[in-house]
Amino acid sequence: MKGILLAGGSGSRLYPTTLATSKQLLPIFDKPMIYYPLSTLMLAGIREILLITAPQDEARFKALLGDGSSLGLEICYQVQKSPLGIAHAILLAEPFIAQEPVALILGDNLFYGSLLPSVLKTASQLTKGALIFAYQVHHPDRYGVVRFTENGEVLGIEEKPSTFYSSFAIPGLYFYDEQAVELVKQLSFSERGELEITDLHKKYLETGTLSCRRLDKGFVWLDTGTPSSLIDASSFVKTMQERQGIMIGAVEEVAYQMGYIDEDTLVEKAKSYPNAYGEYLRSLLKMSSI
Ligand code: TTP
Repeated sequence: MKGILLAGGSGSRLYPTTLATSKQLLPIFDKPMIYYPLSTLMLAGIREILLITAPQDEARFKALLGDGSSLGLEICYQVQKSPLGIAHAILLAEPFIAQEPVALILGDNLFYGSLLPSVLKTASQLTKGALIFAYQVHHPDRYGVVRFTENGEVLGIEEKPSTFYSSFAIPGLYFYDEQAVELVKQLSFSERGELEITDLHKKYLETGTLSCRRLDKGFVWLDTGTPSSLIDASSFVKTMQERQGIMIGAVEEVAYQMGYIDEDTLVEKAKSYPNAYGEYLRSLLKMSSI
C-alpha cells in the first residue's frame, strides 16, 4: 500500500505563527510535527509516500526529509497550489496512486498506543472499500463525526455538525481501495470551497463498502491545529517520553525497528544529532544487543 501525507493547508488557526512557516514543520516538543504522522505510515508498513505541500513550503520539507532514502523510504512531493480540501489531495495524487490502495494521513495528527502497530498492519492489508476510525471526544463538532447502529455498523457521517450527532470523531487517518480517485471525481466543492473527505466517505457508505474501527481508550489521538492543542500535544509527548524513557514519533527508530534501515545507518543518523535525540538513537543499538 502507498501513503499520502498531507502537509498543505493554510494553518489559519495558528496565525500569526504559521504566516511564514508550515504548521507541520512546527515542533511538537522535540521534533517536527510531520514526524508523528510519518512514523504512523511507516508503522503501517508503508514505504512509498507522497507528501502534499503548499508551494512556499516544498523546499523546507525536502530539506528535512529528502527522498526518504536515509529512512529506507521513497518520498516524493506534490505541490497543492491552494488548500482546496483533504479530498482534493487525492485527485492531485492520482498519478502516484496509480490505481492501487492508498492510506491518507493528516500532517497534524498524532496517534499513539501499544496496539497501534497491529491495527495499522491490519488496515494496510485493505484491498476492498474504505476503512476509517472512530474516537470518542469531548468536542466532536470540530470534526467529521460518525454515528453507529446498535450493532455497531456505520449509520451515517457528518462534517462538523451544528447540533449533536455523535460523540465519535473521525481521526485523520484513512485507508482506501483503488476506487478513491474515481469517487473523488464525482464530488462537488462544498460551501467552504473544499472537496470534503467526509463526502468521499459518504460515497463509500452509500455502496456499503465503508468500514469503521473504533479506537478505544487505549489509543491516543491528538490533533495539533490550534495554539492550545499544539501545546497539549507537546506536553503529552514530553510527559510520556520523560516518564518511560521512550520516544514517540522518532522516525529513525521506527525505520530501524521495521527493518527499513540497518545498524550502520542508525549510527550515522545518531551521530548527526549532538543531543538527547542522538543519544536515544544510539541507546536503541545497546538495547537490541542486551
Ligand atoms: P485543517 O486543519 O483542516 O486545515 P489547515 O491546516 O489549513 O488549518 P486551519 O483550519 O487552521 O486553516 O487541515 C488538516 C490537515 O490537512 C493539515 O495537516 C493540513 C492538511 N490540508 C492539506 O494538505 N490541504 C488542504 O487543502 C487542507 C484543507 C488541509
